[in-house]
Amino acid sequence: MNEPLNILFTASEVVPFAKTGGLADVAGALPKALAKMGHNVIVVMPRYYSIDKSGLEHILGPLGVPMGPMGELWAGVYKDNLPGSDVPVYFIDYEAFYGRSGLYADEHGFSYPDNDNRFIFLSKAALELTRKIGFKPDVVHAHDWHTAAQPALLKTRYAFDSHFENAVSMLTIHNLQHQGIFFKGAMDVMEIGWEHFNPHEFESLDGVNVLKGGIAHADAVTTVSRKYAHEIQTPEFGFGLDEHIRAHSHKLYGILNGVDYDEWNPATDPYLPAHYDIDDMSGKALCKKALQERFGLPVWEDVPLIGFVGRFAEQKGIGLIASVMEGLLHMNAQIVMLGTGEKWAEGFFSDVAARYGDRFACHIGYSNEVAHLIEAGSDLFLMPSLFEPCGLNQIYSLRYGTLPIVRATGGLDDTIHNFDPATKEGNGFKFEWATPDALYHTVKWAVDTYRFDHDSYRLMQKRAMEARFDWMASAKAYEEIYYHTIFSSRVQNYK
Ligand code: ADP
Ligand code: GLC
Repeated sequence: MNEPLNILFTASEVVPFAKTGGLADVAGALPKALAKMGHNVIVVMPRYYSIDKSGLEHILGPLGVPMGPMGELWAGVYKDNLPGSDVPVYFIDYEAFYGRSGLYADEHGFSYPDNDNRFIFLSKAALELTRKIGFKPDVVHAHDWHTAAQPALLKTRYAFDSHFENAVSMLTIHNLQHQGIFFKGAMDVMEIGWEHFNPHEFESLDGVNVLKGGIAHADAVTTVSRKYAHEIQTPEFGFGLDEHIRAHSHKLYGILNGVDYDEWNPATDPYLPAHYDIDDMSGKALCKKALQERFGLPVWEDVPLIGFVGRFAEQKGIGLIASVMEGLLHMNAQIVMLGTGEKWAEGFFSDVAARYGDRFACHIGYSNEVAHLIEAGSDLFLMPSLFEPCGLNQIYSLRYGTLPIVRATGGLDDTIHNFDPATKEGNGFKFEWATPDALYHTVKWAVDTYRFDHDSYRLMQKRAMEARFDWMASAKAYEEIYYHTIFSSRVQNYK
């Protein structure tokens, strides 16, 4: 039996405190699963303006965080637990960095110009906090570019600090598109030494690339599906870092995310007007009706209803959807979309909704409640992403018996098995090439299967609802890599 580990988990967003996407779901669920396995996990995140201080416990005196030329900055620290667990979450409070309306960008979508300082601060504050609370980490687990400075800090600034003598680092890439590229003065703020500003570590076109440096220094790098772990080593999906990642592929692993079935379960979901499960699906029809009413669509029982939930970003295939809109509107189906993001897309989809109100409706905004209703009330779920590291919505859809239509990329490819009309196997509909034609024909195929081969549709629906993507299985895989990495680093130290 291996000894329990002290794991520091630092993330820029964590459910239920702050969320813009799937990273928050992972950061809220994986620590709980690891804690259930007996590990001591602490989570650290910013105390954003939207997080009400009054419900949190104020701890410690001020926490000093060294920020190079900015000097030592002093943060407040608050504490709560992840709901339903005793995993502590520490909030770093620093008004000048986090007292703003957005997490990463203002209300017009412009990224904050000091995001480098904001997240280098978070990365360092989390490390300093462990010292202050006497938590000696065995694993420092960073997520995405926001905290990717941590692995490099451990190998440089904190290399001879006895508090971190046991610590190995893991960096999980949730999305390679966002790398944290800044003016190179960020090197001084990180305080890791200019000798690390070179094309194999932090340098990228004379700027600092925080994720790139994190990949170079982490003891282990993971991403959120096996397929994506392969894809990011290719020019098509590498966002310019494929060669760098290939150079570090010996320490790269793909681990699929899990799902929190306490939150995503059609038999108990508090957001739904009716509940259902495999043995009694009648509630799903009521959810469909409620969804149609909610979106002002005519209540057509037998017409397939296609749902979409997601950020309006190119990644999610919104450009592809827009380019086949004409065809989709003539398919004898209804479509509902929920999302926010790129302004052109918000305008385009709202405009289509205004003109084709019996077939197409959209809700521009962020609403957990509507997201749940779409998962339950739709017959098919559209997720034609250009790339998708893991993707959670297609996995939620499976549990709700809403068959996904996806592009064969990343986690979508790993979780969705294409319908085979000959054997009746599969749990969704999948296409390979990111072209309007491929998307159009796959949606048409799904709609026709629903309408004309309903038995196959039902069979797939049952299979989809039976599948489970449990967090405990993923946590086990993370645990294995933690131990492996610790073991390898000890061996290294004896060489
Ligand atoms: P990504 O992290 O790339 O955005 P994921 O599929 O991993 O994609 O996770 C997206 C998460 O955010 C899901 O939990 C999804 O339900 C939620 N989500 C995205 N957009 C919205 C929205 N407009 N309203 C409510 N929830 C949303
Ligand atoms: C990212 C990815 C998404 C993944 C999520 C959680 O935002 O875009 O595919 O599911 O992170 O890992």
